Amino acid sequence: MAKVAFHYSGQVKTVEAKDGETILQIALDNAIPMEHACGGNGFCTTCMCQVKKGMENLSPRNDREENMGIVEDPDRLSCQAQVRGDVEVEVVEY
Ligand code: FES
Repeated sequence: MAKVAFHYSGQVKTVEAKDGETILQIALDNAIPMEHACGGNGFCTTCMCQVKKGMENLSPRNDREENMGIVEDPDRLSCQAQVRGDVEVEVVEY
């Protein structure tokens, strides 16, 4: 199990997640608001988050993230980044 801390709307919520789950799935499963206009398919960037800690505990950036221009730290697409350990992220709010 991994611990994922979400910073959003001026608060922090820490939840447990299984290895391999995406940040987006973990957020939605725990009622944490996160945009996902393309349904988690890596085609919109509305699920972008900023990784505050634990980038090394996420799956490497994949082609979809690179195609959408999400190539620099601390940005990741939440629907593509799978957790493999503890992570702390800032939800990008629109
Ligand atoms: S939900 Fe569209 S890129 Fe992640």
